[in-house]
Amino acid sequence: MPSMTYEYGSDEPPEASGSRYGYAPYPNASDDDEIESRHSALGVNELADGEYFVEAERTYNNTTWVYRLPADQEEVIRQDRQHYIMLAALPGLYRGPVEDILSDRSRHRRLLDIGCGTGIWTQEMAELFPHVDCIGIDLMPLQHDHQMRNCTFMRVFAPTGLKIFGDNSFDVIHLRQMLHAVCRKASASPLTPLIRSSTGMETNAHASPTGSNRSLWVSPLQTNEYPAVLREAHRMLRPGGLILIHEPQLQLHSAWEGLTHVDLTPCLAKMMDLLRGAQQFRGIDVELFSGMDSVLVDAGFQSDAIDVYYHYRQVCAEDPASEDGQNQAINIVSYLHAARLIILESGVTDEDTFDELLAGVSEEVCGRSNGRAGPLGGQGVLSPWGYWWAMKR
Ligand SMILES: C[S@@+](CC[C@H](N)C(=O)[O-])C[C@H]1O[C@@H](n2cnc3c(N)ncnc32)[C@H](O)[C@@H]1O
Repeated sequence: MPSMTYEYGSDEPPEASGSRYGYAPYPNASDDDEIESRHSALGVNELADGEYFVEAERTYNNTTWVYRLPADQEEVIRQDRQHYIMLAALPGLYRGPVEDILSDRSRHRRLLDIGCGTGIWTQEMAELFPHVDCIGIDLMPLQHDHQMRNCTFMRVFAPTGLKIFGDNSFDVIHLRQMLHAVCRKASASPLTPLIRSSTGMETNAHASPTGSNRSLWVSPLQTNEYPAVLREAHRMLRPGGLILIHEPQLQLHSAWEGLTHVDLTPCLAKMMDLLRGAQQFRGIDVELFSGMDSVLVDAGFQSDAIDVYYHYRQVCAEDPASEDGQNQAINIVSYLHAARLIILESGVTDEDTFDELLAGVSEEVCGRSNGRAGPLGGQGVLSPWGYWWAMKR
């Protein structure tokens, strides 16, 4: 069996220590006190009236049609939990020669985190590099409050809004979990019904708090904007600056010979198919993970300046009852719960089927799979992540 995280492919990961790839210290992924202290002290900044709608007890941003994960306290907790799990996986806040670049004080240094979410990564970088101006941008005001003079959050819509930043103006630009987030609604596109009920009837019963039902409609003609964001990142980076990208692949693999991931975790396999279908409906290129190098090259980075580190995560931990194991299980289930609207609005399934599958997934990730390999089948199912870094020449 593989360990929880390991690399594959021909690219060797960098040394795990040394000044070139000095990893940042990171809190334990299961350090609930650390997570809790941030939540209790901080919390979600308010969305103004009319900027949100409520659907199945989750709050969503209503200022754009194109981002469909919730904007509520539950989502803040989910993103922060995921942050600590990713820190343990890398390990640290980053890979690549970030420290070399940011520690050089020969001139002022600036960092940009695109789609910063709760801003937890931005803030931890600001703490680690107090002389670096760290800017987090996001279309939602989910960021934790803080007292740091070198950390700023702004509401900016990428890629168009990034025009406010000058050419060659950042030393490090970071994107994490943006691959399945950034898309754009084509103008004048027809609107399509959002939710399909279990009877196959389209429903508009879930009105937004403002009384309108605009939350129930989505455009199927959205285009993937990720390459455009990377082109903007290349423009904004100074020569010698670094882009950091950490993304999941929307695909599962079986590590156990003779068994597919469908055999091992049938509900999760089905859910992943639905999610891929829903993302494709939204205009997201779900295969872009495999072509990231060429997207970076098209954005202006040179192919010999690109490095990548892959790691896999088991969908059910070696010890599912441990604190880490439970944390990882919650992480998967809470992500799928957050993606409920994305899946339902695309029409790939109905609410009852979704809820039934999610209940099945909750069992599989906790070591209670009904799959062919028995309850611990989820330990044979791997979810790949890639971490790319590339220097602008
Ligand atoms: C899955 S979350 C990841 C958050 C953060 N990068 C992390 O890893 O913790 C994606 C974030 O991107 C933001 N986002 C999505 N599309 C965006 C856009 N076009 N411009 C700016 N932010 C965007 C969302 O509001 C959300 O906070």
